[in-house]
Amino acid sequence: MSIKVLLNEDEIPRQWYNLAVDLPTPLQPPLGPDGKPVSPEALAKVFPMNLLEQEMSPQRWITIPDEIIDILYRWRPSPLRRAVYLEKALNTPAKIYYKDESMSPPGSHKPNTAVPQAWYNKKAGTKTLTTETGAGQWGSALAFACSLIGLACKVFMVRISFDQKPFRKTMMETWGATCVASPSTETEAGRMFLKKDPNTPGSLGIAISEAVEAAVTDKTGSTKYSLGSVLNHVLLHQTIIGLEAKKQLAKIGVKKPDIVIACAGGGSNFGGIAFPFVADKINGEKIEIIPVEPASCPSMTRGIFAYDFGDSAGMTPLLPMHTLGHNFIPQPIHAGGLRYHGMAPLVSQAVVEGLVTPRAVAQLECYRAAIQWARTEGAIIAPETSHAVAVTIQEALKAKEEGKEKVILMNLSGHGHMDLLGYQKFLAGQLSDYSLPQEEIEKAESEIANLPKPSAKKTGKW
Ligand SMILES: Cc1ncc(COP(=O)(O)O)c(C=O)c1O
Repeated sequence: MSIKVLLNEDEIPRQWYNLAVDLPTPLQPPLGPDGKPVSPEALAKVFPMNLLEQEMSPQRWITIPDEIIDILYRWRPSPLRRAVYLEKALNTPAKIYYKDESMSPPGSHKPNTAVPQAWYNKKAGTKTLTTETGAGQWGSALAFACSLIGLACKVFMVRISFDQKPFRKTMMETWGATCVASPSTETEAGRMFLKKDPNTPGSLGIAISEAVEAAVTDKTGSTKYSLGSVLNHVLLHQTIIGLEAKKQLAKIGVKKPDIVIACAGGGSNFGGIAFPFVADKINGEKIEIIPVEPASCPSMTRGIFAYDFGDSAGMTPLLPMHTLGHNFIPQPIHAGGLRYHGMAPLVSQAVVEGLVTPRAVAQLECYRAAIQWARTEGAIIAPETSHAVAVTIQEALKAKEEGKEKVILMNLSGHGHMDLLGYQKFLAGQLSDYSLPQEEIEKAESEIANLPKPSAKKTGKW
């Protein structure tokens, strides 16, 4: 029995997979303020054209440039491991495999897209990248990529995470980036949100507004913005996870997983591991695919499918997505990377089609799962990842009840070494679950009632 399945470097996937081409209903386009589809030219102030081409690519497979592969070799291919110690503790017949994305230098899956984004920007003549970060994993990943590729990097870090995870800022600075708490006084959007509530914990939506504003108002014209999740090209870059996993499962003779599980904030690590299997499902395989979100920020399980802004100040185009409304400020849970009001259009469309079935889990169950993982498998995982582990445990126990030897594939999106404050509070009994009253969701959603509506037809039987 293999508990660690490794690929050689020459087995690394050479192409990314673009699910947009295979979705039964084509993705609906982003819209501008006039309600018309936005052109790549209109977005060129924010993103370089080479990434915008990927964003709208009609190609199923996109070749990964060799120079990017050379950088990915620092930690890829990532291991596929079998969680035999957890299986034993649960006494389950299920076989639990997980991709270990915590092995990258910044500690998560995020560099899988930070490196290509920095590389394509450098090629297009960008000198500085701005970005937001929730938990700090994305900000660290972009700082790391920019330092290797030779770009300056400025990160707006959500206030609550800035306070909860101070060493993430030090990591970013070690890689040469600058990092400020968001909302900040450096941008108009930041000043506006601070005026509304000087004690706001911030949100990813607010930090995105600040980072976009900082990029588009830069007078040199050589500053662009980089997003760590949500967009098509980000999820595209992450598909290397699922493509590697397929090769690894094949190596040990596993034809397919029965269940694929990952946490979802903006949808990138979920899309990364799941999309190659969503393609199989479209082609007739029976696979249950579960994105897991926090019960306190339930965009897919309690939000609506609507056109909404990607940020809180309304600076981005309107995206067709599951959303709680761009003014929704999630509770200060420790999984900062899951505190986002929306979900990637690609993931949202897969939810509409019934290809993936989201589930929400509350904070305490997630921490209990993280502790069980640490005491069986050993690793101290990120609070975001604990959502995937919680559902993996639910499914492994269900398999036991049903007496079925199911194959579960999970994405371990990151380690929790910078997230110990949350663990400390949980162990001291100081954490609680947040209930989210329906009125609060309805209020946030009413604020987007006048925006255009995407069509939400389900075409297939999955
Ligand atoms: C470790 C980890 N997992 C998951 C996420 C959620 O992001 P996404 O849904 O884009 O994978 C984050 C975001 O910061 C993260 O840091």
